[in-house]
Amino acid sequence: MSIDLDPTVSPYLQGTFAPVHDELDAADLAVTGEIPAALTGVYMRNGANQAFPPLGRYHVFDGDGMVHALYLEAGTASYRNRFVESRGLLAEREAGRALFGGLSQFTFPDEDTIAKVGIMKNTANTNVIRHANRYLALMEGAPPTELSRDLATLGEFTYDGALHGSMTAHPKWDPATGELLFFGYSPFPPFLRFHVANRDGVLTRSVDIELPRAVMMHDFVATAEHVVFFDLPAVFDLDAMLSGGTGIRWEPEHGCRIGVLPRDGSSDDVTWFELDPFFVFHFLNGWSTTDGKVVVDGCRAPRMPVTFGDEVLVETAAPSLHRWTMDLRTGTATTEQLDDRPGDFPRVNAHTEGTANRFGYLATTSAWGNDAIEFDGVTKYDHGTGTSSTHVYGTAVSAGEAVFAPDPAGTAEDDGWLLNLVTDKATNTTDLVILDARDLAAAPVARVHLPRRVPFGFHGNWMPETR
Ligand SMILES: [Fe+2]
Repeated sequence: MSIDLDPTVSPYLQGTFAPVHDELDAADLAVTGEIPAALTGVYMRNGANQAFPPLGRYHVFDGDGMVHALYLEAGTASYRNRFVESRGLLAEREAGRALFGGLSQFTFPDEDTIAKVGIMKNTANTNVIRHANRYLALMEGAPPTELSRDLATLGEFTYDGALHGSMTAHPKWDPATGELLFFGYSPFPPFLRFHVANRDGVLTRSVDIELPRAVMMHDFVATAEHVVFFDLPAVFDLDAMLSGGTGIRWEPEHGCRIGVLPRDGSSDDVTWFELDPFFVFHFLNGWSTTDGKVVVDGCRAPRMPVTFGDEVLVETAAPSLHRWTMDLRTGTATTEQLDDRPGDFPRVNAHTEGTANRFGYLATTSAWGNDAIEFDGVTKYDHGTGTSSTHVYGTAVSAGEAVFAPDPAGTAEDDGWLLNLVTDKATNTTDLVILDARDLAAAPVARVHLPRRVPFGFHGNWMPETR
């Protein structure tokens, strides 16, 4: 049975994006192949899963957070999924309907709801991480939401009140220090704030960074010595948003700036590099060299590849892997395209974050569509040899981000596995597909058959039992 699409409904509420409403627990899942016994831990993946019919136009980023977890132990797998029970969702459950507008069509909730929740819902729908033994569901417009390992929602987590404002959904773990580095952006001044939490999960540093205007900043880069912010012209217009218009607009006339900041520096210490307009949602990695350069790899698109209003994208804006090199000694920045094939959702072995990685993994597709984000494979880049290899998960499949899970007994950077939730559109079922990261040409090591379809989602992480 294939999935028929209804042209009157948002593409992000149907087909492989259609939300699921039940919360399941299933043990001892059927497996084709063999789950490596060394994979002991939990893989969690977050995504937007709208609980109630939306009030207005639905944006792909709007839905309520839902975390899908695969618990792997001694070659067996169990599954659980839960909504992130945000204050907004709890209020909506009480009302029996949606109370909040979305990014494409904002509407003010009623006064009671504003008093109880605020004007927006913290959907916590974008990523889920573990740091200092806390499980945090993240959405860039709000603080983290803490979950238990079994996916109960514990509430918003603000580092004992020390975190003011939001946290990006793409914080960076420093494998050398155990710190978590992150930023928060806001449509109100200060537009950008950089934070560090130490390995024990205590917020130790918060620094305001000056920006000329409020912009949407989805991701950043932390090297062993620097943090790098990309000030790209996805510009906030709060007045337009609050009156139901387009709140985030692509305004290339503002140009692009890449800011490099020493990790212990302040706003005055940022070196800015100006470039012609482009857009990036996600970075693969970055590192600082001994001769004063900072190198960043990421998925560059010629413009913002999504819209936040009712305008239609007419240009193709597929992201592909690029490298920026900022020379702090000469003040110049160069851009190099590493591949012209579309790809995004880049990941590395987390133990190489902030230092020069040899291998990177991108979700890739042979058919990029601006309004139907979909991947069917994973491409492994080998910067050591300058080669790449691609694993296509099948025909008529929808795959997501391939997360690298290191082999605890491994020594090489690519000793490990790639975990991905892959939906077969013909059967409307989802498998956790486990590939050997060393050999993408090989058939999957294991396919874990989930008891239900998992909607296309955003980001997740492998959280091994011991770290
Ligand atoms: Fe993201």
